[in-house]
Amino acid sequence: MSVTQQQVLEALSKVRSPRGTALTEAGVLSEIAASDGKVFFSINVDAHEARAWEDVRAQAEAAVRAIPGVTSAMIALTAERKPGSAPPPPRPSGGVKPASAHRHPPQPPGGSPMSRQAEIPGVAAVIAVASGKGGVGKSTTALNLALGLRDLGLKVGLMDADIYGPSVPRLTGIHNKPELTEDRKMIPIERFGLSIMSIGFLVEEDTAMIWRGPMVMSAITQMLRDVAWGTLDVLVVDMPPGTGDAQLTLAQNVPLKGAIIISTPQDLSLIDARRGLAMFKKVNVPVLGIVENMSYFQCPHCGTRSDIFGHGGARHEAERLGVPFLGEVPLHIAIRETSDAGTPVVVSEPDGPHAAIYRAIGEKVRDQLAGVIAAA
Ligand SMILES: Nc1ncnc2c1ncn2[C@@H]1O[C@H](COP(=O)(O)OP(=O)(O)OP(=O)(O)O)[C@@H](O)[C@H]1O
Ligand SMILES: [Mg+2]
Repeated sequence: MSVTQQQVLEALSKVRSPRGTALTEAGVLSEIAASDGKVFFSINVDAHEARAWEDVRAQAEAAVRAIPGVTSAMIALTAERKPGSAPPPPRPSGGVKPASAHRHPPQPPGGSPMSRQAEIPGVAAVIAVASGKGGVGKSTTALNLALGLRDLGLKVGLMDADIYGPSVPRLTGIHNKPELTEDRKMIPIERFGLSIMSIGFLVEEDTAMIWRGPMVMSAITQMLRDVAWGTLDVLVVDMPPGTGDAQLTLAQNVPLKGAIIISTPQDLSLIDARRGLAMFKKVNVPVLGIVENMSYFQCPHCGTRSDIFGHGGARHEAERLGVPFLGEVPLHIAIRETSDAGTPVVVSEPDGPHAAIYRAIGEKVRDQLAGVIAAA
């Protein structure tokens, strides 16, 4: 049975806003995406009112989930500073500043109704896999690294935070939807011994594209916290590409123990990698190191190696910046084909050279997290 927008609106008309009006009359709803039993929308409120609305968000979600035929509902509360709204209260430190000075980029939904940086119970270390540029192999590396860490005997989760274009469903071949616990947390999908969650399990790829700006953070926060992760040593987060506001917000709001930057050897990508480093530095997240992906070309037939991009740039850059260099992954058809087939190379060729490389990277990452993991 398919659920219509009309049904969703009807359910929402029974939920009250903090001012007592019907939610549907409050002028805060985004467009409602309802397809195939999956419902997605956001409630956009002023940053100052975010707290009062969290309860309404929960009620709205419950109301939508109660509609017959709804299999999943994800409702994001976005707290945007609306044009013309009251300025934020003056800082207690009281330094005198001209009103026009220091216009910071839109503050991330400080906004976000969840307390920033709160640890995720049961999860010892959340680490981000990021890149300044898209298409450098972040998702491929995130998944294979997660598997490498698994091979070291750790309990590992993978969260796909790329809500613009989730690729974890394709990389893992997972197409089923997460079930809910009794207290309505999503149960991550278990595959290859990993606990995996992606927004792509909840929406069609096209639907995910409607998420923009502050909606991203809200959805990601929910994915992190409304998921029954259980006990994990490491949760690997596959970040959306780039170092824009959305990524910065994410880095600020997710309790990251470290970040890994993926770069290709080309110069341009390295400039982007530097941006990635700068971003994490800004939010005081330690960079665990740089991985050079598509580092050299390895002929699938004869195994000959050619450094088509003048490889080694990332290693030098890492040395220059005083950041650990975690390893080089060759450009190899097996890595791409296994990714496309939903059987990552560490799983499909566990004794092959690529799996060994990802495990070696995993070891370096584990060693850096050792204190955190052991303490858990
Ligand atoms: N080492 C590699 N050898 C061969 N192909 C690779 C390698 N790493 C990644 N690829 C391929 O490159 C493409 C992009 O990889 P991937 O999706 O992991 O990148 P991404 O950085 O996550 O991209 P996006 O920015 O879109 O999220 C995929 O087709 C993937 O299979
Ligand atoms: Mg990706």
